[in-house]
Amino acid sequence: MGSCVFNYQEVDVNFEKYYQVYNFLKKNIYYDILNNTPFDYHAAKVLDDKYSTSNSDKFKILLNKPSDKFHDSVNLFINELYSDNFTDFIKKCFKTEKFTLNAKLWISLPESEVMPHYDDSRKIGNIMFYLNQNAKGGETVFWKKDIPVFTTNINDNSTVFMRTRKNKHSVNQNFSIRKVIIVNIWK
Ligand SMILES: [Fe+2]
Repeated sequence: MGSCVFNYQEVDVNFEKYYQVYNFLKKNIYYDILNNTPFDYHAAKVLDDKYSTSNSDKFKILLNKPSDKFHDSVNLFINELYSDNFTDFIKKCFKTEKFTLNAKLWISLPESEVMPHYDDSRKIGNIMFYLNQNAKGGETVFWKKDIPVFTTNINDNSTVFMRTRKNKHSVNQNFSIRKVIIVNIWK
């Protein structure tokens, strides 16, 4: 699977509930996206975020098709999501033949946080591409019952895969702007 966007071979597709990997996103694409967001996101304010416990502003931008408003690196990323390579990869990774996906860039201003919750049961999984270099806070935390069992690193080109079924998670309060592209895989 040759690709100029993802290092597919870096991923162990048989992970259990969550899996963190570095440099799944090719380094040049990572830095290009990192340095070319945020674009004009202020029009994209989220008003109804179910699990947020703060009043801090959050923004989301749909990345469902390329746009001349986006940097080339973002458009390459989006095109890859709809490629045969990525489709085959998702089938293997999430053990499904049929799925739909969407992608969003989320930007959270400081002091956002998300309480522990389970995602919608129509969702199969998420892939989170963290776009931060010196973020403080804002980690995703996975829980087993009421005990936190894994805290992600959201810096350093880290990507986290999660199966959403029975997988409780939260987001720690962030003290600097937090950016992440989330690809949702739906039944
Ligand atoms: Fe969630």
